[in-house]
Amino acid sequence: MAPVRVILATGLAVASLSVDAFVSPRASTLVGRRAGCHAATSRPLHQRMRMADEDIVDAAEKATDGVAAAIKDGADSIGKAAMEGAKDVALAAKDRVSLGGVEVSPLGVGAWSWGDTVFWGYSEAMDKELQEVFGNCVGGGVNLFDTAEVYGVGRSEYLCGKFRRDYKGIDKNGIVIASNFAPLPWRLGRGSVVDACKASLDRMGAESMEIYQIHWPFGALNSRYWDGLADCVDQGLVKAVGVSNYGPEAVKDAHAALKARGVKLGSNQIQFSLANRKPETSGMLRLCEDLDVRVLAYSPLAQGLLTGKYSKDFVPSGPRGRVFKKKLPAVAPLVDKLKEIGTPRDKTPAQVSLNWCITKGTIPIPGAKNIRQADENCGALGWRLSEEEMFALDAAASAAGL
Ligand SMILES: NC(=O)c1ccc[n+]([C@@H]2O[C@H](COP(=O)([O-])OP(=O)(O)OC[C@H]3O[C@@H](n4cnc5c(N)ncnc54)[C@H](OP(=O)(O)O)[C@@H]3O)[C@@H](O)[C@H]2O)c1
Repeated sequence: MAPVRVILATGLAVASLSVDAFVSPRASTLVGRRAGCHAATSRPLHQRMRMADEDIVDAAEKATDGVAAAIKDGADSIGKAAMEGAKDVALAAKDRVSLGGVEVSPLGVGAWSWGDTVFWGYSEAMDKELQEVFGNCVGGGVNLFDTAEVYGVGRSEYLCGKFRRDYKGIDKNGIVIASNFAPLPWRLGRGSVVDACKASLDRMGAESMEIYQIHWPFGALNSRYWDGLADCVDQGLVKAVGVSNYGPEAVKDAHAALKARGVKLGSNQIQFSLANRKPETSGMLRLCEDLDVRVLAYSPLAQGLLTGKYSKDFVPSGPRGRVFKKKLPAVAPLVDKLKEIGTPRDKTPAQVSLNWCITKGTIPIPGAKNIRQADENCGALGWRLSEEEMFALDAAASAAGL
């Protein structure tokens, strides 16, 4: 019997110790109260243990309720944040404008750097990430990708076509690829536009593309190229057409010539940013609005100058470095203003710069070399700068002599 007693006593002691260890100070007080002010110790151990058990359950239930409430609160706020994010993306996805009948997002992506080794330092090792850049942009509500036969000598077109084919998301059918015809000196007739378009489609691995643009004007040959664009539409190779780097007179002429062929001029792609507001002061934006021609704003971040990441001690390598060194002192106060306006909105200088272009009624097409840049740039969608903020940014650009 002795060993049994020892085991029993040891078991009870351990049980009691365990109960003490689990009963919170509050539960211990409760034990005292339930005991009707009698000293808890005056009750037999098994009774005290049962009461302590009840209090443990009681305390555990309360604690569980607390944890559950905290989890619910956390879940609610996570859910709320997710809903807000989803709402932004949904809003961005719904936000579309018509470019010659093709529905495009108010923000695009420029794919010049996807293939260009000389200016942008592209290498094939970037392709895997660029595929993700493409997917993240589509997922973030952006459906417009601008490329050109001269970007990376066709590599950019090849990548855009491949990224679209490999894209697995639900918005695949809404993706818009816009390429550019290069008016090279030996391309003398309208047939050269059709031939170049077919070659671009071959590189993309596609039967047709959404938008085809003339990359720059070329004097007397312009009207032949416009006919070439209309031929591409007639042959079902492209859905909409545009021009690029055109001045007001050329835009009016192209608009009229295409109209005579039953084709709408969809866009004029020009340099426009807080660092280059000439299209606004020259009346180009107004003209395009009157003609219902969309303005695609290229270099909307002034090739990185407006992002705030460069300084006189840190400039990009390559051809941009020299130019940036000269421009940075003037741009610095403007970047400060971008930060001042962006900070309360939780937006970066790049996002504010792009939103400024959108709020001016243009479609910026920033280049993005990596996922971080692409995701950040997508954050320019789904909101608008106020009139006061736009005014302050314009004033800061003017004060900077831009
Ligand atoms: N039609 C034409 O004649 C013409 C001419 C020029 C461009 N374009 C089109 O317009 C597109 C955009 O213009 P762009 O590439 O000249 O200039 P951009 O869009 O103003 O600048 C793009 C560069 O800025 C940097 N960047 C982009 N997003 C950023 C971010 N969130 N944070 C920090 N840095 C960021 C990247 O370069 P770093 O990381 O190296 O700084 C990127 O390559 C081109 O891809 C092309 O499709 C057309």
